[in-house]
Amino acid sequence: MMTDQQSNMPSPIVALGYLGFYAQDLAAWEEWATQIFGFAKVRAPEGISSDHLYLRIDERQWRFAVEPGTEGRVAFIGWEAADANALEEVHRRLTAQGIEVVRDAELARKRCVQDLIRCEDPDGFRLEFFHGHLVSREPFVSPRGIGFVTGDMGLGHILITVSDIEKSKAFYLDLLGFRMSDYIVFGGNKVHFTHINPRHHSLAFVQTSDRIARLGHFMVEADDVDAVGFALDRLHASTWQLKETLGRHTNDRMLSFYCENPSGSQTEFGWGGRKIAHPGWLVETYDATAFWGHKVPGTEYSDRGPQSPREGI
Ligand SMILES: [Fe+2]
Repeated sequence: MMTDQQSNMPSPIVALGYLGFYAQDLAAWEEWATQIFGFAKVRAPEGISSDHLYLRIDERQWRFAVEPGTEGRVAFIGWEAADANALEEVHRRLTAQGIEVVRDAELARKRCVQDLIRCEDPDGFRLEFFHGHLVSREPFVSPRGIGFVTGDMGLGHILITVSDIEKSKAFYLDLLGFRMSDYIVFGGNKVHFTHINPRHHSLAFVQTSDRIARLGHFMVEADDVDAVGFALDRLHASTWQLKETLGRHTNDRMLSFYCENPSGSQTEFGWGGRKIAHPGWLVETYDATAFWGHKVPGTEYSDRGPQSPREGI
């Protein structure tokens, strides 16, 4: 039976490791990522076409990959296992449920990891589970002087919309061992926030009324509040659209804004996210996504009441 109850079994997955996107205009992606958010471009790994864009935000060889293709879909989501045994545990759990899992040595080489298995989640999101990501000998130097909060909290978080919340709960909570952080219930939506490390959430998912599965947004976190302000200024000076004004989230306390990204989803850029503390974490329910701000630009601005519709959630 599916349940939101906390399992005492730790998840074999420890972090959101990397993300892959499709885009038609990779030059636009590069400019967006490097000039506004201070990601650093790196050479594509050996064996990967040089027209693929690779970006890093910390000591890892890369965290974001962009391939030529149709916007609007996330290409792949990389979940990190601590070591080979943990990856085997992921493999065991998936295959025990009859889920088709492929061990892909060629892909592991391209992703710069020791070992990799891949499968699809209940909505067809392409998931890659890996261990042994390559740490670059070159120091990370952000072209905008930004330091990103990663380490044991992974690259950030993602929010996906799903077609069947029960199937997603069974897959991520029951099978893979993601733990509930809390819920936000607003506008007929119930967003499930889940964690696998001290970051408040690495994965959030929600079944929306259209039941279409897509990436709502991905979030990266700066280590300095002024980095968020500077990035917001640069965004305003660019042609990229702000999607939600600066605001403070209720549940994870993140001070952030949302903007469009070149792959057709949204990006949240934040600072000051709250950390999960075990034991003693209480799973709470919030009735709004933000204490203040996070308004859709151009909509009527009121300090209370129902929130305007949110594409990125
Ligand atoms: Fe977020």
